[in-house]
Amino acid sequence: MKFFVDTAETKDIHELAATGLLDGVTTNPTLIAKSGRKILDVIAEICAIVPGPVSAEVAATDYENILREAKVLRRIATNVTIKVPLTPDGLRACKYLSSDGAMVNVTLCFSAAQALLAAKAGATFISPFVGRLDDVGQDGMELISDIVTIYRNYEALHTQVLVASVRSPMHVIHAAKIGAHVATLPPAVLRSLYAHPLTEKGLTTFLADWQKTGQTIA
Ligand code: E4P
Repeated sequence: MKFFVDTAETKDIHELAATGLLDGVTTNPTLIAKSGRKILDVIAEICAIVPGPVSAEVAATDYENILREAKVLRRIATNVTIKVPLTPDGLRACKYLSSDGAMVNVTLCFSAAQALLAAKAGATFISPFVGRLDDVGQDGMELISDIVTIYRNYEALHTQVLVASVRSPMHVIHAAKIGAHVATLPPAVLRSLYAHPLTEKGLTTFLADWQKTGQTIA
């Protein structure tokens, strides 16, 4: 399973990239706004840190302007992935852009029918938002399971399921059990994957016992 980080904060991206476990980055207009930086600058900096796909979202909602913005974003770096909304114009743009060799991430997916349309439009990634579905009383993970099952039924569909709006390590584990290709995680959730109290406790004991031996490894 690939791990992307869902942030536009380059300090976090630098730190997480250094682990060697980071496969890509996703951003959205809210995350760009939080960073307080210009989208072109921040995406260029992220693309230089992480060689994998870096999603940059268009702000336009009509076909012509989505393509115009995508052209600007694609010029930044070859690993820019154009993020488009799951709308008729967004999917039309997805079809054009993917045929033109761009990576496309279709965002704001909340149903299996939408995911099927995105795959038919040639999306590189589909982003179902599990946390936001859970928030309104629907089972986000059930949607992931449905999409993975549907995509597996058709060899011609190559769209990767990118689990988005992830809120906890359990979301990640469930997504991996289902076989989702990618999860994009807020930095705090990505860091929390390392943690287990028994790991900390065990390490404390090992280090204390090691000290008693008076040995060094050299
Ligand atoms: C996906 O690419 C989105 O940026 C993101 O996962 C949205 O998550 P949120 O629901 O926590 O805002």
